[in-house]
Amino acid sequence: MGVIVGTICALFLLAIQSMGAPEGASGMNISENLFSQKDEALPIETTFNFPAAIPAFPQVSHEGDGFATGVIDLGGLQVTQSSAFNKVWSTLDGGLDNKGVTIFEPKNIPEGFYMLGSYSQPNNKALYGWVLVAKDVSSNTTKPTLKQPSDYTLVWNTQSLKINQEGHAYVWLPIAPNGYKSVGHVVTTTPDKPSLDKIRCVREDLTDQSEQYSLIWSNNGFFVYDVRPSNRGTQAPGVHVGTFVAQTIETATNLSISSLKNINSTRLSSMPNLQQIDAIMKLYSPLLILHPDEEFYPSSVNWFFSNGALLYTKGQESKPIRIETNGTNLPQGGNNDGEYWIDLPVDNENKDRVRKGDLKSARCYVHVKPMYGSTFTDLALWAFYPFNGAARAKFKFIKNIELGKIGEHVGDWEHVTLRVSNFNGQLWQMYFSQHSKGTWLDASQLEFKVGNKPNAYSTLHGHASYPHVGLTLQGKDGVGVKDDTEQSIFVFNLATYELISAEYLGPAVIEAPWLDFNKKWGPSIEYDLEKELDKVRSKLPGPLKSLIDKIIKILPKEVLGEEGPTGPKLKNNWSGDEV
Ligand SMILES: *[C@@H]1O[C@H](CO)[C@@H](O)[C@H](O)[C@H]1NC(C)=O
Ligand SMILES: *[C@@H]1O[C@H](CO)[C@@H](O)[C@H](O)[C@H]1NC(C)=O
Ligand SMILES: *[C@@H]1O[C@H](CO)[C@@H](O)[C@H](O)[C@H]1NC(C)=O
Ligand SMILES: *[C@@H]1O[C@H](CO)[C@@H](O)[C@H](O)[C@H]1NC(C)=O
Ligand SMILES: *[C@@H]1O[C@H](CO)[C@@H](O)[C@H](O)[C@H]1NC(C)=O
Ligand SMILES: *[C@@H]1O[C@H](CO)[C@@H](O)[C@H](O)[C@H]1NC(C)=O
Repeated sequence: MGVIVGTICALFLLAIQSMGAPEGASGMNISENLFSQKDEALPIETTFNFPAAIPAFPQVSHEGDGFATGVIDLGGLQVTQSSAFNKVWSTLDGGLDNKGVTIFEPKNIPEGFYMLGSYSQPNNKALYGWVLVAKDVSSNTTKPTLKQPSDYTLVWNTQSLKINQEGHAYVWLPIAPNGYKSVGHVVTTTPDKPSLDKIRCVREDLTDQSEQYSLIWSNNGFFVYDVRPSNRGTQAPGVHVGTFVAQTIETATNLSISSLKNINSTRLSSMPNLQQIDAIMKLYSPLLILHPDEEFYPSSVNWFFSNGALLYTKGQESKPIRIETNGTNLPQGGNNDGEYWIDLPVDNENKDRVRKGDLKSARCYVHVKPMYGSTFTDLALWAFYPFNGAARAKFKFIKNIELGKIGEHVGDWEHVTLRVSNFNGQLWQMYFSQHSKGTWLDASQLEFKVGNKPNAYSTLHGHASYPHVGLTLQGKDGVGVKDDTEQSIFVFNLATYELISAEYLGPAVIEAPWLDFNKKWGPSIEYDLEKELDKVRSKLPGPLKSLIDKIIKILPKEVLGEEGPTGPKLKNNWSGDEV
């Protein structure tokens, strides 16, 4: 029934839209509109600042050694983040949102440090970037860690391009001496080669293989990409330099620009200690805004256990057992082999109660790990929901199709990740996980309502996380499963946290036994998929019945219960980069 009402409403809405005024015209006349567009400042003309001041982090060790002390020693090579820039060149054409791109080079470089490469950013977001600058502290006279290039080659120039640009850009690749590599470009506005003293190349053992990442700008067979280390993860030594690669092929396997590598055996000393982790959480812990119609709230793991969650053993389904606080009686380690699983209480009253969760008991479970050769810290912030509600779909103008029990499962682990600089303790990026994938956003693109705490929005029933309010379809061509987020007064404040894992701190962090439960946090699919599909079909008007099969084909696997609800350690990606 809901579906048919939805159809009628949707058709009505479509009719209104087609009669209505053009988008964006409400409340202002045309001349006003044009004027404001012409005068509109580009987002990049604003430098992003956090809404609130960033206090100094508690320091314990001596200067120059530890988290947020400004400089990190990669092993005879000190590096620091430079975010003061001179603008070199820009164009207003092409690129993201067709707003163009700007190229900068670091200025006010500290005494003894050298430029390693320029910085480039699309114009469609506020300026928030950095590049590393470096100083040789190796006292190795035969093989210093930094050397001038021996020459430059011109990669490309914009002279012949008919684009709206400020002067012309000449992009140079430094030619590294034998045993050295280039980690960034020089860009000039004249055809003259830059001075050899302009930039430094880095000794090979301090560089790592790199890959092209997001596209910054392209034009006429020329491509500018972010560069990042190819190998990333808690153990990977590759360091993100913040530079870009400019090339005349769309996809290069071996980039002309390398990443840096942290070869310092004590590199973990730049990671935050317990006190500093607490300071990071106080400063940046997000507010997770639940959907106003949400029926299934998060809870603490211990609330779930002590309110009747049961451990089942294969072959002994009639004899489930209660789970102790912290999961001390859960099987540890091994594979997700289906020998054990967790489920809700058996009696209907408790089942319904536990399914709903308990917001006031909810805890944010924090996993802290080194990233980019310990120059950044990732804080993966996990939330547990006892139950994941049913999925809902949209098919073009049919705005809401209830999918019965499809998508429901017990035990739902979700996360967002903060990526914080170990140079200065600033939040650089945040990751929003969505159905075993996700998206990274720069801090400058986040929504802040309370101090420097980003907002995150949890989707109705499915609990995927998004940076803004709105509808995202998991599907294509206007057909798919709905990820709905909305403003609401139901907020899970992730400042209420427990540190569950930080391998680099050794015995200072004891992992709870439930973290090593490698089986499913809910039973395998509990309903008959075909039966649920029939129910949905029976509610659809004749010609639309076949739509449901199309929707099923594009559903994310876990919605169909094919991928079980496993704990944080078995998800993408406990020890690697987010995927
Ligand atoms: C349109 O807006 C401009 C600027 O506010 C105003 O001067 C003008 O009178 C308006 N014209 C009409 C037709 O409303
Ligand atoms: C490693 O880093 C520490 C701390 O920053 C520094 O004192 C030390 O000199 C570095 N080690 C090497 C081999 O460069
Ligand atoms: C200088 O660096 C090179 C390359 O890493 C190394 O082989 C050599 O042993 C170093 N020499 C000294 C004196 O540290
Ligand atoms: C890319 O670089 C690696 C390591 O430097 C090398 O082994 C490989 O042959 C290169 N591949 C190509 C296509 O140049
Ligand atoms: C559960 O774990 C927490 C911290 O991990 C600990 O403080 C508490 O004592 C544990 N409780 C029990 C009953 O083991
Ligand atoms: C985890 O991340 C690493 C490094 O980025 C990657 O190699 C690995 O495939 C990822 N694992 C999964 C399960 O996605």
